[in-house]
Amino acid sequence: MSHQYDLDVLILGSGAAGLSAALRLAERHRVGVVTKGRLTESNTLYAQGGISAVLDEEDSVASHVEDTIDAGAGLCNRDVVQYVVERGHQCVRWLQDLGAPFTTRTGAGGRTEIHLTREGGHSHRRVVHAADATGHAVETTLESHVRAHPNIRLFENHLAIDLILAAKLGLGYRRCLGAYVFDRANQRVETFGARFTILATGGAGKVYLYTTNPDVATGDGIAMAWRAGCRVANMEFIQFHPTCLYHPKAKTFLITEAVRGEGGRLLLPNGEPFMHRFDARGELAPRDIVARAIDHEMKRLGADCLYLDISHKDADFIREHFPTVHGRCMELGIDMTRQPIPIVPATHFLCGGVVSDINGRTDLPGLYAIGEVACTGLHGANRLASNSLLECCVMAAACTDDIRNAQVGTSPVPALPPWDESQVTDSDEEVVVSHNWEELRRFMWDYVGIVRTTKRMQRALRRAQLLHAEIAEYYGNFRVTNDLIELRNLVQVAELIIHSATLRRESRGLHYTLDYPERDDRTWLRDTILCADTLISNRRAASL
Ligand code: FAD
Ligand code: SIN
Repeated sequence: MSHQYDLDVLILGSGAAGLSAALRLAERHRVGVVTKGRLTESNTLYAQGGISAVLDEEDSVASHVEDTIDAGAGLCNRDVVQYVVERGHQCVRWLQDLGAPFTTRTGAGGRTEIHLTREGGHSHRRVVHAADATGHAVETTLESHVRAHPNIRLFENHLAIDLILAAKLGLGYRRCLGAYVFDRANQRVETFGARFTILATGGAGKVYLYTTNPDVATGDGIAMAWRAGCRVANMEFIQFHPTCLYHPKAKTFLITEAVRGEGGRLLLPNGEPFMHRFDARGELAPRDIVARAIDHEMKRLGADCLYLDISHKDADFIREHFPTVHGRCMELGIDMTRQPIPIVPATHFLCGGVVSDINGRTDLPGLYAIGEVACTGLHGANRLASNSLLECCVMAAACTDDIRNAQVGTSPVPALPPWDESQVTDSDEEVVVSHNWEELRRFMWDYVGIVRTTKRMQRALRRAQLLHAEIAEYYGNFRVTNDLIELRNLVQVAELIIHSATLRRESRGLHYTLDYPERDDRTWLRDTILCADTLISNRRAASL
């Protein structure tokens, strides 16, 4: 028997963006948080470095704005950057008031103050952190408040499939009315009606074979918004983190950029430093530059990995500042106080996403997008380190203010039809789904990675389109499963990435193609915005 829930606000996702929004709304609204795994499983939980905010007297908002725009390679929206950066201080205080245990130090006059670390692209120390497990501190702090709040209902192990659209129900207007959600434990689809829906579903690292992201990052929110007719922008700008631990047993474990911020050096296998050959800022150049330099050197030397070395620093300092990284490395037999850490780049963050404005509004009335799923214009062509948790926190506040103001006069959600399973049967070919999943992630890594070419991207597009057609057929005929829903979204997101990357005929920020290796401000100083109509016309053009 299928259930129907009626809420004021439905929040899809429970990372920093979703949980912050839930807490801010719960005083006056009935809020439901739907999340596909346990509440804390999210990119947020694994964030290491910190949250950037201007707290130091010698630092300034203007300087943080300029660093963000510089890292973003000219594509940031200055108004949005200003808006977000100005609110960094407020955001950190809000989290502190909730109890987030940020690392402190004793400052002038014996006062306790927040310790600030440094990361690539920042011209000042401005990264607030909880040792090297900032995301864990933020996420579990938010969790403890959310779990205790009587107005927040939590739906763990629930996977949103698609948004419910008034227009599709023949109601004669455009509005998001909630979502169909797959209850993983009971294997059934439930209907969630809501006056407002917030997409806070995070990024899409799992589109690629090697990623720092956990399994939940399958780009679901972007695919759902795209299917609902929203525009999606800047999908070619996939951030590769330069330093992930290279070890057969490590799966993907990040070595925080703060290691470089505190003096860590990148080395070739023969112990030689090399970053100075690529950028005057050396190890603290923005991430796109460092990842490309590592990729270049690995290919040039045919090396499986390069090295990150901070062993010249005091061992107690290393253990105190990087307990998580130190502990994980020790488990694998690497003592970072005495030896360099083997590293490789891996997919880390999606700068593009669902087009949303400074209030988090998308193209579809009633639908908001905040956090990594959104493209607000903050990150441009490359995100500055530690600006993402900041964005989650600031945009959650902006979007919930907008919902509070919009509440008056919004009519209740009409009765919604249950999910229709009358035309489908159970599949006996689950293996097809897992094979397609592997194939997709591998060709995206091989053909649409750090260094691209038109030919490789066309090859990837052909494969993605084939998979898309296969999955659509499968989806139309068989009862939905968790893996099928995620694969359908992954393929959709892969196509959006390839389309965007193919359209941009220049190299900028995180998008580097050998066919157009130069940055071209005359033609390409603009976002890549996709809407369903453009894609249809592109396909027509391609088939002519
Ligand atoms: P997430 O935290 O990823 O949360 C998304 C949520 O949506 C999850 O709960 C997920 O289960 C849920 N979800 C997804 N799809 C569905 C669906 N269909 N139905 C229901 N629920 C769904 N940024 C910084 O600023 N500083 C850092 O130090 C930093 N370090 C990082 C380290 C690592 C290893 C990683 C992976 C990222 C790091 N980042 C960092 C980036 C940052 O953590 C993320 O961009 C940010 O946490 C995203 O928050 P979010 O709330 O938008 O999404
Ligand atoms: C890191 O700690 O290196 C990640 C920081 C980020 O992604 O902003």
